[in-house]
Amino acid sequence: MIDIHIHILPGFDDGAADTQTALDMAQIAASGDVHTIIATPHVIAGVSNYTAADIVSAVDELNLLLSKKNIPLLVLAGAEYYLESDLPQRYAAGELLTLNNSQYLLVELPFAQMPVYTAQVLYELQMLGITPVIAHPERNSSFINRPQLLGELVDRGNLVQVTSGSLLGNYGQTVKKTARYFLTQGWIHAVASDAHSVKKRPPQLLPVARELNKMGGSTCTKLLLSDNPLKIVEGKPVQSLPPIPAKKFFFRR
Ligand SMILES: [Fe+2]
Repeated sequence: MIDIHIHILPGFDDGAADTQTALDMAQIAASGDVHTIIATPHVIAGVSNYTAADIVSAVDELNLLLSKKNIPLLVLAGAEYYLESDLPQRYAAGELLTLNNSQYLLVELPFAQMPVYTAQVLYELQMLGITPVIAHPERNSSFINRPQLLGELVDRGNLVQVTSGSLLGNYGQTVKKTARYFLTQGWIHAVASDAHSVKKRPPQLLPVARELNKMGGSTCTKLLLSDNPLKIVEGKPVQSLPPIPAKKFFFRR
């Protein structure tokens, strides 16, 4: 499996606090059938202004360390950008780091709202050749209250990454229900850990793989945890899941 969203770079954000934690997180990922991850530290104007060069050099350093410690995990460079109105300008100026230098850009929205410029910014990014990947929309109250807003963004070519813990109920029943609804609609393109630590939010995908197997079957699991993440890493087009008929979905449960 490939984990496309993980906060593992030591000391960068609210993820791994130090090198040992990063190594422990890498060990957990590798022991849980994950062979490749994309390090995606938060980049938020005025809060964490990491440049692409900062991230790439930390990724190189971590890969060296992993090989010294014989931990079989490849770390690729990426970032999780907070949705800001000037993202298209910053991308055009060469300042943003896409997921492994692909056309895919991981973007998170504020949890409490969907800014009025959301669709416009995502559209402008698309006009520049980017395919935005919306990070964990199941945790955003606008999408929880009006899921169709997400459906419209998906119809316009944006991709969706849902967090593993959301499908497992780690963020509460409302988030779980919302994530499962997105799955039935065929709106999810990838599931990732969004891991921040060793214990509270670990980089494990096996528990969600078991849950996805129950919900959508093995093809769905493979698409969301392996095939589409690989396409993203390779910069190739991803595949969408067909909607899961409500009857079949509830029957499986
Ligand atoms: Fe994240």
